[in-house]
Amino acid sequence: MSELKNDRFLRALLKQPVDVTPVWMMRQAGRYLPEYRATRAKAGDFMSLCMNPELACEVTLQPLERYPQIDAAILFSDILTVPDAMGQGLYFETGEGPRFKKVINSAADIDALPIPDPEKDLGYVMDAVRTIRRELNGRVPLIGFSGSPWTLATYMVEGGSSKDFRKSKAMLYSDPQAMHALLDKLAQSVTAYLNGQIKAGAQAVQIFDSWGGSLSAAAYQEFSLAYMQKIIDGLIREHDGRTVPVIVFTKGGGLWLESMADCGAQALGLDWTCDIASARSRVGNKVALQGNMDPSVLYAKPEAIRAEVGRILASYGHGTGHVFNLGHGITPEVNPEHAKAFFEAVHELSAPYHQ
Ligand code: CP3
Repeated sequence: MSELKNDRFLRALLKQPVDVTPVWMMRQAGRYLPEYRATRAKAGDFMSLCMNPELACEVTLQPLERYPQIDAAILFSDILTVPDAMGQGLYFETGEGPRFKKVINSAADIDALPIPDPEKDLGYVMDAVRTIRRELNGRVPLIGFSGSPWTLATYMVEGGSSKDFRKSKAMLYSDPQAMHALLDKLAQSVTAYLNGQIKAGAQAVQIFDSWGGSLSAAAYQEFSLAYMQKIIDGLIREHDGRTVPVIVFTKGGGLWLESMADCGAQALGLDWTCDIASARSRVGNKVALQGNMDPSVLYAKPEAIRAEVGRILASYGHGTGHVFNLGHGITPEVNPEHAKAFFEAVHELSAPYHQ
């Protein structure tokens, strides 16, 4: 494996000293970039793009070409590849988001679900990881990822996106055993999937718990955090002589940072509702923090973006342990010049905090 030329992202996650605060952006390869839209058109549709390792590699690298400040690449794929490999039949209806042909309605449906073999059933993702690592050639580290069991379960039970999680929460409260059985299968599937990505070359992994914040405090512990902890317990922690850091991102998890900091992850992702200074004092030395600019700031003019980046850097304060990011993914309407202002500001304004 080639030597890593820029490792400040991995160093910050492990709370080792860095020269400037590392930065990447959730959904950095996506529809706000005209070059992404062109490659997706070439692939035909979004899932064909995910399933073509050469094209998935191409879009992964696009933001790095455009913005040389980016300190990490993220695998181009989707969290819903796992339920698809479990036989749910994922498809995307234009303008409607993800949908499944088969929906989970009962304990019997859950019993029948297989645990996918990463190389056999998700080989296109493993091939994408290997292709991206080869093409990155040590420029920056590659982040692998998965959805959390709870977040994946909501899509599988609802049959797609949901605003109120009516079916999944009804199952959680009326048949908790069935929900636990589903989450347990998902935890096993995700553990194998992330370990597959790590063996293929992912140098850090992020668990996207996009809908953990929809739960009550008690239900979050029992139905989301416990399963992420189980996954982390089963992950390969060192590969190719380096620690493989784990980032847990629970959107809306700001009230629970203390217990999240004990789940075994090296870092927690914060959404923009958290004050990063108080988050830092609450988690102490246990974990690094990633975040947390409101993605909507990118609709404002570059001077305002720069000011907000400066405010967040000052709020985190001096020293390592901060990976700059948005509090959720960049949206398709953002002007790419505004993303440029964001990436530039992080490196330009953060050096004084590392002297
Ligand atoms: O961050 C990255 O650049 C890596 C790629 C990535 C995608 N999806 C690409 C994508 C990642 C990490 C994801 C994760 C994902 N997918 C999550 C968790 C993160 C979050 O946003 O909370 C979730 C919930 C999904 C499920 C999903 N996939 C939805 C709800 C949608 C539709 C979204 C929309 O705005 O239409 C997708 C599709 C999707 N995944 C797109 C991209 C770039 C847009 C597809 C397109 O090009 O049309």
